[in-house]
This record gives sequence, C-alpha cells and structure tokens, in this order.
Amino acid sequence: MRLFNHLYNEKSFNHMSRKLSRRNFIKKTAIMAGTLGLAPSAAPSKILSPCIMVGEQNEFNATGRKLSFNREGKFKIVQFTDIHAIEKKGETDHAYDIMNRILDIEMPDLVIYTGDVVTTDQNPKAIWEKVANIPTSRGIPFAVALGNHDSDGRVPRDKIYEIVTGLKGCLNTPKKESIEEVYGYSNQVIPIYKSVNPDEKANIIYLFDSNDYHNLPDIAVKDDWIRSNQIEWYLNQSKALTKENMGKPYPALAFFHIPLHEYRFAATAPGAKIMGWRLDNGEGVGAYNSGLFSAFLECGDVKGVFVGHDHDNSYVVHHQGIALAYGHFSGGLNTYHALCRGARVIELTESEEVFDTWVRLETGRYLYRITVPHTFTSNDPKYRPYP
Ligand SMILES: [Fe+2]
Repeated sequence: MRLFNHLYNEKSFNHMSRKLSRRNFIKKTAIMAGTLGLAPSAAPSKILSPCIMVGEQNEFNATGRKLSFNREGKFKIVQFTDIHAIEKKGETDHAYDIMNRILDIEMPDLVIYTGDVVTTDQNPKAIWEKVANIPTSRGIPFAVALGNHDSDGRVPRDKIYEIVTGLKGCLNTPKKESIEEVYGYSNQVIPIYKSVNPDEKANIIYLFDSNDYHNLPDIAVKDDWIRSNQIEWYLNQSKALTKENMGKPYPALAFFHIPLHEYRFAATAPGAKIMGWRLDNGEGVGAYNSGLFSAFLECGDVKGVFVGHDHDNSYVVHHQGIALAYGHFSGGLNTYHALCRGARVIELTESEEVFDTWVRLETGRYLYRITVPHTFTSNDPKYRPYP
C-alpha cells in the first residue's frame, strides 16, 4: 500500500485520522497545512481559457451551454468537495479563499462540486449563490452532485435542487422525471464537445445523486445508495450515446458524493497502488452496493469515478480499468478534516480514455500528478506520480 509514500508515515497521522461522525459537524482544527505545504514546488499545468458557448440546446444539456475542448485538445475540471458552507462568520471564509486561489492557478473549463456543498440551515440560497459566484465570476460554469448533508436542514432536497438549478452558470437542469422514475435529483449528463467541430461530442460527464439517508431498520450504516432506477437511467443514457457514436462508447467520467463499495475493495486488495491519502479509517460507503460499478463495466464508457464524503481520503486506485478517485477536501472549519485543504484537478484529452489528475493544495503546490491508466498499468518512469 503506497500511503504517504514520500512525505509521511502512517504512525504520524494516527492521532489525526480519528474518524468523527459525519452527522456532527464538530470543529476540528488539526490541519496539516504546514506539513503538506512543504511539498516540492512545481510549475502549474497549462492555463486554459474557460469555454462556454451558448448555442443550440441538446437533449442532455437543456441549459444550452456547450462545453468544448480547447484547440490543444484539453479540457480541465476542478473538483471541489465537502465545503460544508455555512453562514457563521469565519467558518467558511477560508474555504472561499482556497477555492478562489485554486481557480486562479488552474483556470479550469468546468468546476464540479461533489456534495456537502452548503450545509447551513439558515438561508441556503444565499450561501449557494456565494459558492456559485466563485467560478462564475471568472466565467467558469459549474455542476453539482448533491451530498447527503446538502438537505440536512429545514429546506427539503427537492427545493435545494431547485435553488441549485436556478443558479447562474449552473449546468444542472431542473428535474424532469418523478422520483419513482429516477430517484434523487442531481442525475445529469453533460457532454463535452470536440474542439474543431463543436456539434460533435467527444467525452461525457455523468453526475449522480448518491442520495442522503435510507429509512431501513436494523442496519448501522444510514447513508443511502444509488438506487436501481438511477442505474437504469444511466444504462439508457450510455447506450443511447454509444449508439449515436456508431457503437463506440464516448470516454466518460462519473461524479457523485458517497463512494461505491468497490473503493474499499480496490483499496484493500493485496498490492493495491493507492495514489494519495487514505486517512479516513476506510471508506464511508452507502448501506448497500446496488451495482453501479458493474453497470460502468458493462457499458465500457466510464474510466474515472470521483467522489467526496470522506474528508480525509484523497486517493486514486485503479480497478478493472476504472480509476476510483476521491476529490480533495475543500471545506471550512466547521467539519472534520486532517488533510491540508485543496481540490482535485482532472485534465482530459479530447476523445481519449487517458486523463491526468492531481491534487492542488491550498498552499498552491500540487501533488500526486498521475496519468490514468498508465500510472497503474505501466512501469515507464514517466508515469510515476509527480512530485
Ligand atoms: Fe462532508
């Protein structure tokens, strides 16, 4: 297991990796900023211009916005996760500063929030607007996969999602289907179009709602799972897209909040290559495994899955040809974390299954830049994690 491979040893983190209840936003200020900030410096990757094109609407993205690869055939995503933004002064301000700093460095084409974004009970709309303004003030669109804590307050989940879809620059579209047809809210397909021909899709992003809490008795894990009709929805979308592309699946990534059971399976397999930090006492998976991972295998399109939920997990493993990745905790002071804050960055190459990913820390440094799948499948030194 390649934990803390060049910076830390597990023993030094034991006192900080104590798991706190996700239901209790207990302030924990054991931040590793000083330690992690000592990582070797490296030049930021290529700066890309955000590209939003307001054009014709399509069946998957009713906002009418089109995301396209740039002329170099690259498309960059910054994943912010578990911000837990609240109104209380000072609690979230540092998270806002970090997000602003990271976007100034990375200049991505898209921001994706993978849940537990706004956890205030007071005025969620105002806080969501603050969070949304961070990318949109730079002309960067964003998308949201809801987390279990996004609807902990008095405002129900459907109303929270209405707030989200009403935000300027948000690529999520209002829910069309009933809960009986497709469970959850933030289930969404976002196509990324080719650089040269903006009418042709190149890659696909799937967002899922990993939901909040089930109400079944006699099981200690109360976090929900991705329901069967959501998987059916994905299968239908994926098959339709593959058919459209003459039988060849578009390379795709999936984003949601609660990790799949396969994360634990892959991370604990003998000889597992873990690129990053696994400090959260395992994986906080949902109550049951409903089979989304096997659906990904069957469709053959998704090559990377990106989640949040476990604030002190920030790793990538590779399992059956799919990268199972965590985002990097981007949140405020009102919830548990031991890691230095930051964000995961993903850089796609047009129409290819290969992508790069790294963690950009609040210090401005980046760590664990890897190329998926080569870092896991090749012995070529050029694919080793850097720095
Ligand atoms: Fe969280």
